[in-house]
Amino acid sequence: YRQMTLRPITTDVMVIAHRGASAYGPENTLAAYKQAIMLKADYVEIDLQMSKDGQLIAMHDETLSRTTNAKELFPNRAPWRVKDFTLEEISRLDAGSWFNRTYPEQAKTEYIRQHVPTLVEVIDYVKKYGNGKVGLYIETKAPSAYPGMEEKVIEILNKANVLNDRKLFLESFSEQSLRTLKNFAPHIKLIQLYKRGMLAGKNVYQEFKRISEYAVGIGPTKELVGRRLIKAAHQNYLLVHPWTVNSQRDMAALLALGVDGQFTNNTDHLVDLLEKP
Ligand code: G3P
Ligand code: CA
Repeated sequence: YRQMTLRPITTDVMVIAHRGASAYGPENTLAAYKQAIMLKADYVEIDLQMSKDGQLIAMHDETLSRTTNAKELFPNRAPWRVKDFTLEEISRLDAGSWFNRTYPEQAKTEYIRQHVPTLVEVIDYVKKYGNGKVGLYIETKAPSAYPGMEEKVIEILNKANVLNDRKLFLESFSEQSLRTLKNFAPHIKLIQLYKRGMLAGKNVYQEFKRISEYAVGIGPTKELVGRRLIKAAHQNYLLVHPWTVNSQRDMAALLALGVDGQFTNNTDHLVDLLEKP
């Protein structure tokens, strides 16, 4: 039936708050996750990096310099790689003031001295304030820089009792990282991310057939998405979650094409378009 109608596996389009509601608060902080929950995201996205002492933290970049005051606090520690700092050192950083400086129109006093949260903290926060409605969508970022990252993620999810939650996805650009995750947790829902160029010269149907061995969906950059890609994904029972979609015009165009969810910095724009209750 699915194959005949090319319908997605879910009928409800998912609003995925990219790094939290990161248009309205500093990305990958509890403040951005709070905004995402308030704005009715279905999922919050968390990028992962690992500290020198092996702790998983929510951060997009491999270095601390763009989103924290690491340069001022530790002037002699260039190039400020996450993996060269302990969690105790990272916990002293201000991860919010950069946002107030960069986006003055969205600045809030409460963003000053937002800290870099651990994965455990984000999970606890979402469990506490998400009323069981908000899911986790977690990316193993730069997994080759952090051996053992996948085992730690699964351990943390298991300990927090969310490993078998319906609303949990793990995502990566790295097929190897996804396959490692699957070895540790065979039933976990995995999303293969694609950036520009990753599908170049490939037969997309064959590629999606191959990845459907381990993944339940794809996360392509929005520029890759067209009828052919969506058809090939749905024929292989794969969900399609493009990133990062911020304008309502792009959101509407992707909805018309039949995507199953969208990563957005502007949670409210997609929630409004979908008329979510
Ligand atoms: O995870 C989907 C999308 O977030 C990938 O890009 O660089 O924002 O992590 P990036
Ligand atoms: Ca991401």
